[in-house]
Amino acid sequence: MNIVFWSYKGGSGRSICAANLAIRLSEKKNVGMLDFDFEAPGLHTIFGLPEEEVASRGFLADYFQKRSLTDIHSSVWNIGDLLKEKDGKDRSLFLLPNMDHPAALDEIDWTGNDIITFIQDLFNKVTTIYDLDYLIIDARSGFSAMSAIAIQFVGHVMLFFRPNIQHRSGIARALKIFKDQGVKINIIASQVPDSTAANDFLVESSTLFQQQLDYVLPFDNDFAVGEKLLLNNNECGAISDLFNKMAENIIGGIQIGE
Ligand SMILES: Nc1ncnc2c1ncn2[C@@H]1O[C@H](COP(=O)(O)OP(=O)(O)O)[C@@H](O)[C@H]1O
Ligand SMILES: [Mg+2]
Repeated sequence: MNIVFWSYKGGSGRSICAANLAIRLSEKKNVGMLDFDFEAPGLHTIFGLPEEEVASRGFLADYFQKRSLTDIHSSVWNIGDLLKEKDGKDRSLFLLPNMDHPAALDEIDWTGNDIITFIQDLFNKVTTIYDLDYLIIDARSGFSAMSAIAIQFVGHVMLFFRPNIQHRSGIARALKIFKDQGVKINIIASQVPDSTAANDFLVESSTLFQQQLDYVLPFDNDFAVGEKLLLNNNECGAISDLFNKMAENIIGGIQIGE
């Protein structure tokens, strides 16, 4: 199953939540991640990969630029092994990172059938090589061919928004598109302050979306600083609990909201 993380605006918590959910899922299932944000990729930073090595081993934009998947495994990082050095726990987690590379990006043609076939092949190839149960795709924010194309081949979209009208209006428009595609949609309110105004805003948002919010991630002072990977439940308790719940629901195939 492919799961894409998307938001209309940046800074929604998409990447850090994708990384933490992947960690939780990978304790029980085989999980791969693709950094599909070609302009401001962040997963290599979040997982602490050395930039020079990511550059020398190659990254997603390189494969798009040359339109070839040959040797793609040489650019994939075994994050499960890296995390095991920290806490000794077994996880099956692989990442194909990305780096911002304007010259490569300018050369990528996002239109036409070739790119569609290429992306299908990419998703299928990494799924097959690593025997993945879940492929998590951290998409670029906003409406672009780049994000539309990533969303086209997924069964499940995680829509992130912060409680403000810019983020929300983008989600409302995206829902009109995604609902027609028949994909499973979860809506996640992120970085929500503990206030009556925020609560009222979310109630109003749910009415506007004509769908319940699936998860509400509270704003957490500790989680806000340093891009935290929650390897255990001792840190940022409420947020950690929500990642557990998300992983449980995904593995159990539970559709919430609606
Ligand atoms: N629930 C939260 N509480 C506090 N800070 C958060 C929360 N979720 C995300 N953040 C912070 O918001 C910032 C942006 O997150 P990021 O995952 O990079 O967003 P995006 O990928 O949508 O641009 C990060 O510094 C992250 O730590
Ligand atoms: Mg991001």
